[in-house]
Amino acid sequence: MPLKIVKKSVNKLSKEEISFINRQRIKEYGKEAKVNFKKEDKSAEFFFIINNKEIMAFGMLKPVEVDYQNKKYNILGMGRGLAIKKGQGYGKALALAGLNYLKKTGKTGLAFTERKNIGFFKKTGFKIKKDFIRKFRYKNQITGELVRDDDGDGVYYEGKNKLISKMLKNGGLAIIKVPFW
Ligand SMILES: CC(C)(COP(=O)(O)OP(=O)(O)OC[C@H]1O[C@@H](n2cnc3c(N)ncnc32)[C@H](O)[C@@H]1OP(=O)(O)O)[C@@H](O)C(=O)NCCC(=O)NCCS
Repeated sequence: MPLKIVKKSVNKLSKEEISFINRQRIKEYGKEAKVNFKKEDKSAEFFFIINNKEIMAFGMLKPVEVDYQNKKYNILGMGRGLAIKKGQGYGKALALAGLNYLKKTGKTGLAFTERKNIGFFKKTGFKIKKDFIRKFRYKNQITGELVRDDDGDGVYYEGKNKLISKMLKNGGLAIIKVPFW
């Protein structure tokens, strides 16, 4: 049976879907991994890869505003990606669903990931910039504190706004208003 791709906005996720995602996250990452998606992934689109009515992989794209050299750029943060059964092509189907969406909309997509996942993202057609997370600061909207994270490679698709090329060419830091995703 061919794989089905289902796209759903975060506000339309059912309680069952949310607890399924959280259960899988806890299995993968441990107890602390439970997330309130409606709050933390505001306005996100979730993608599900379905095989024979069963969810085999999920992930999301959410709007993120990036402040870079006194200009604001709207991009999509890619995250929460997880394949329930590994090594069977479900992760790739998910990554391709995201990539096709980015191509279709012309939006820039950006994820931060661990080095061990780079090979997977390269294979699925994304570009990589090692340690790219170091070029971003999360500005806490209440305290104004700038938070850095040193540990993450950038995985991206360059959309029409060319934000990534500009950052790679001109250097400097970009500020985001939501925590690293
Ligand atoms: C990363 C992840 C989504 C990959 O999903 P998957 O279903 O196991 O991967 P697939 O079976 O679709 O693999 C697609 C291709 O990438 C390759 N691949 C998979 N993981 C790889 C890795 N870590 N390094 C290099 N290549 C890899 C596969 O061999 C396959 O190659 P092929 O097309 O030549 O056969 C999955 O391992 C996962 O859920 N990991 C835990 C959560 C996580 O780290 N998510 C990423 C968050 S940014």
